[in-house]
Amino acid sequence: METGATSARLRLMAGCGYVGTRLAQRWEGPQLALVRTAASAETLRRAGIPAQAVDLGGGALTVPEDLDAVVYLAPPGGAGELDERLRAFLAALEKARPRVFLYASTTGVYGDAGGAEVDEATPPVPGNDRARQRLDAERQAQAWCAVRGTRCVVFRVAAIYGPHRLPLERLRRGEPVLRPEDTGPGHRIHVDDLVAACEAALAGTAEGIFNLTDGCPWSLAEFTERVAVLAGLPAPRRIGWAEAERVLSPGLLAFLRDRRRVLPRRLAALGITPRPPDTGIRDSLVEMGFPG
Ligand SMILES: NC(=O)c1ccc[n+]([C@@H]2O[C@H](COP(=O)([O-])OP(=O)(O)OC[C@H]3O[C@@H](n4cnc5c(N)ncnc54)[C@H](OP(=O)(O)O)[C@@H]3O)[C@@H](O)[C@H]2O)c1
Repeated sequence: METGATSARLRLMAGCGYVGTRLAQRWEGPQLALVRTAASAETLRRAGIPAQAVDLGGGALTVPEDLDAVVYLAPPGGAGELDERLRAFLAALEKARPRVFLYASTTGVYGDAGGAEVDEATPPVPGNDRARQRLDAERQAQAWCAVRGTRCVVFRVAAIYGPHRLPLERLRRGEPVLRPEDTGPGHRIHVDDLVAACEAALAGTAEGIFNLTDGCPWSLAEFTERVAVLAGLPAPRRIGWAEAERVLSPGLLAFLRDRRRVLPRRLAALGITPRPPDTGIRDSLVEMGFPG
């Protein structure tokens, strides 16, 4: 697919959903967002963000070569332990020499640390194929950058929350939460702090791996309960593992099984101080029209 955009100093966003849209809205220079569906491309264009619908992993991608920055915000594609979607995308960018490449990974690469602290220096031990795909993607991005002299930034991102990404529907449905004593510390980041970190990393000289979390250890139950209080919804019922295994989704159970305390030791170097969850939940609710 020929994207048609040829501007110098172009910022290419590969994947432009929840995070990418907020990042793109703050950028005034030339940019192009690549998304999977025509509907998403149309929504972005209506918001003033140049966008094309294309399959990043489809092998038929033609992108402008004169790129200033590449921001990769799409999840891995397919099964197995390797991210073939990113491999195809990087192959299509063979001739490009961007100044910086930012890859959004996840804290899932650390696997289950039995509740222990992990930081950017901790060797990742991914415990499932999804996390192994993320680690593979990080390494692909780093190798691609190394041969080009491109600055490579990898963000290991915790659970992203913000406006329209709060567990309000789960609360309204009366879905229970796993009691804190049965799970590990939680880790999350407000979307606008993640966006600010992306901007800082793209503009500055940062390089390497950064954990993107607000550092607050609230469990998922404690976070959800705080959302309930601030949104004026009934508190969720707390349950133990035996019941959780019957009523919670497999994806959520896998997330709850990985116990680790993720420390964002390098984040201050980006000049970012993430807001605590109480502030982040309030900010999100206000943006959604809840009374402040
Ligand atoms: N949600 C979390 O809590 C969390 C935590 C850690 C890391 N992350 C990761 O951080 C990144 C950004 O998150 P997000 O919440 O902004 O994700 P998102 O809202 O799901 O957006 C993903 C974007 O990737 C595009 N995409 C997916 N497959 C594609 C393909 N084959 N070809 C082209 N585009 C494709 C989607 O296009 P369409 O809209 O057309 O489908 C969408 O624009 C993602 O990699 C996500 O997995 C998320």
